[in-house]
Amino acid sequence: MPSAGEATKSVAPATAGQGIVLPPNATRLAQTAQLNALLTIIRSSATSRSDFIFYADRIIRMVVEEGLNYLPTLEKTVQTSTGGAYDGLKFEGRICGVSILRAGEAMESGLRECCRSVRIGKILIQRDEETAKPKLFYAKLPQDVAKRWVLLLDPMLATGGSVLQAIEVLISHGVEASRILFLNLVASPEGLANVYARYPEVRVISAWVDEGLDERNYIVPGLGDFGDRYFC
Ligand code: URA
Repeated sequence: MPSAGEATKSVAPATAGQGIVLPPNATRLAQTAQLNALLTIIRSSATSRSDFIFYADRIIRMVVEEGLNYLPTLEKTVQTSTGGAYDGLKFEGRICGVSILRAGEAMESGLRECCRSVRIGKILIQRDEETAKPKLFYAKLPQDVAKRWVLLLDPMLATGGSVLQAIEVLISHGVEASRILFLNLVASPEGLANVYARYPEVRVISAWVDEGLDERNYIVPGLGDFGDRYFC
């Protein structure tokens, strides 16, 4: 046990959430102590908005970088400064981002930092007060979206209602489901199961998978309302 005032050193990777079995289309980041520490900051209700933004942005970068691993590549050989040849890779295929408003907008700058001048579309889905179901209010997508790989952005995967509707919109614009990569920070097992049941070809990349949902369909332990904490 550390004595009073002594920092607790973490040498082992985080173990939280290891028992959850993921559907075959789901990937989660390596559950390292660093990732757990970053998530612990943004989960805490005591964290200020500026710290929430700073640390959420760090995790967003990690999720975007992992998402890029699912894009196709071609072999490419370059000459290095030593005069030798390096047999490497280059990305193949064009991409775009699509953020699910409002919280998904928080992930746009992380995507732009990794992919300069990437086009980003937007989809607004809100709860229909009459039916209580998610309803499409607005969609603005790159005109050639059907020819691109789509990085779909929404930080929280709760029930999956919004993202399922967003995927439908993309498919109705000609995007193949297998070219959609859905990037999020915290997912629920229910949300992952719902996406897999309808669109098993869509790859879902999450930083962390939590225990479940509460009666208001918030993720638990979760971090609260991501959009409120990031933007308000
Ligand atoms: N959206 C959020 O911002 N938080 C949740 O827990 C679920 C959905």
